[in-house]
Amino acid sequence: METRIFENSARLADAVSDEIIQLLKVKPDALLCMASGHSPKMTSEFFTDKIRQGKADGSSFYFVGLDEWVGIPPQTPGSCHSDFQERLFTPLAMKSDRYHLFDGLSADLPGECKKMDDYIDARGGIDLMIVGIGMNGHIGFNEPGCDPHARAHVAELEEITASVGQKYFQTAMRLDKGITLGFGHLRATRKVILIASGASKADIVRKAMKGPVTIDVPASVMQELPQGMMMLDAEAAGKL
Ligand code: F6R
Repeated sequence: METRIFENSARLADAVSDEIIQLLKVKPDALLCMASGHSPKMTSEFFTDKIRQGKADGSSFYFVGLDEWVGIPPQTPGSCHSDFQERLFTPLAMKSDRYHLFDGLSADLPGECKKMDDYIDARGGIDLMIVGIGMNGHIGFNEPGCDPHARAHVAELEEITASVGQKYFQTAMRLDKGITLGFGHLRATRKVILIASGASKADIVRKAMKGPVTIDVPASVMQELPQGMMMLDAEAAGKL
């Protein structure tokens, strides 16, 4: 695992967006996977700006969403689907044949998981994953105690994930389950970048990077990934 620390969140987002640009220069039809939420927001903005400036071809890559809240309609502001739509699909005029997202409303969630696994396999695996870290150390909705080798699956969410998750929505939401890629995907991905910014992430970043590798702090698995990169701003790295 490599670690890079940046002076502020803008420098961090600039560098992470460059990683996507560099990938697309060598592999325009790469498969990219991103988390939604606050951590990759500025990265997405820098990335779409760079595409508009012609720094790489943004018309040929494929995309999968890392996760989705179960039971939340895709068009609800705050859903992962709505984040991706606003940050990537609309600015890049991406047609739906270039991306695949979990349907959190599906009556057949195991079927949704299989469709996602099959999509990733059909594209030859994920080239680059850009993930965040939750206050309990989760990546995606891989909560403490999750199966460290699972592929797509449905997860029961911890109380802290449900309560912190309210920040994305305009009204109170029932957030008790998520559907998510698993650590089997993380391990198989060619490059995994974990972004953390802000002082509120400093404690969990320290636990994940300096503590023992344990599924009780899921992001500690990054320590075992040779293709893993922790990209942090100075505040998130403040307790290392
Ligand atoms: C969201 C996701 C979550 C978030 C994590 C951090 O799609 O996968 O694991 O990355 O909860 O959230 P933020 O970035 O909002 O602090």
